[in-house]
Amino acid sequence: MATDFTEETAAAAVIASLADTPDPRLRELLSGLVKHLHAFARETEPTIAEWEYAIDFLTRTGQKCDDERQEFILLSDVLGISMLVETINNRKHGKATESTVLGPFHVVESPRRELGDSIDFVGTGQPCVVRGRVLTAAGAPGLPGLPGLPVPGAELDVWQANDQGFYDVQQPGMQPRANGRGLFTAGADGAFWFRTIVPSYYPIPTDGPVGDLLNATKRHPYRPAHIHFIVSAPSHRTLTTHIFVAGSQYIESDAVFAVKKSLIADFTLTDDADLAARYGLNGPFFLIDFDFILLS
Ligand code: BEZ
Ligand code: FE
Repeated sequence: MATDFTEETAAAAVIASLADTPDPRLRELLSGLVKHLHAFARETEPTIAEWEYAIDFLTRTGQKCDDERQEFILLSDVLGISMLVETINNRKHGKATESTVLGPFHVVESPRRELGDSIDFVGTGQPCVVRGRVLTAAGAPGLPGLPGLPVPGAELDVWQANDQGFYDVQQPGMQPRANGRGLFTAGADGAFWFRTIVPSYYPIPTDGPVGDLLNATKRHPYRPAHIHFIVSAPSHRTLTTHIFVAGSQYIESDAVFAVKKSLIADFTLTDDADLAARYGLNGPFFLIDFDFILLS
């Protein structure tokens, strides 16, 4: 232990105090945290009032959390840390579909639905068909000499906001229960399709300390329009991701930095009456083709 505190030796003294931590990973994580926090304080030289403000901000962040609201995750989201940790843990491999954040709205179980079912129970949005295949990366299209192999019976858990930018759980009593949600099982050929409406961009919650932070930094709170997916299959790595609507407002400035180019899909307006009839629709609709490629 150090007996004389100095700005120069403080970090080393604290890190030395962790030497007997039995768990080596815990020691590594805490040492790294101390090293970088001390470097931050030395570099920015916060005043006592600023440090007290920071402590109060974190206290308010904790106080905003309850069973339905996780303000600390939201803080991690708007600082880009959620996406960084997500991406470090799911680095891109070949043609495998990239991951992105889970977000706070996967809070209720998605009801099991049949392929082709609609997940929209309101009917005010622009109709849309999402179709594609779940393939294994082991033989993904584009890899030399290897065709993509279907993953029969893969599960797709889907959830999205409505055309006004609200999830069902944000509007209890206004939206039907489980509106915008469904759990689908791909066919033996890995194919899936379902009907929905084109989602809207929407703001993340701003009525807490994270909203104050966005305000103070003149940042907007919006996420571009997207549909969430968790795609899973035995012997494959579960994929948590979104499909983003190409051209959506805020696609270049997602409040939580979750956009990856490979996840942006064209929602193509389709005026083909035969195709519409085949999908149980009776007018123009938007069509999205998107294959999910899983790592085994
Ligand atoms: C979402 O996409 O549902 C979301 C993700 C991060 C923060 C807020 C919302
Ligand atoms: Fe979302």
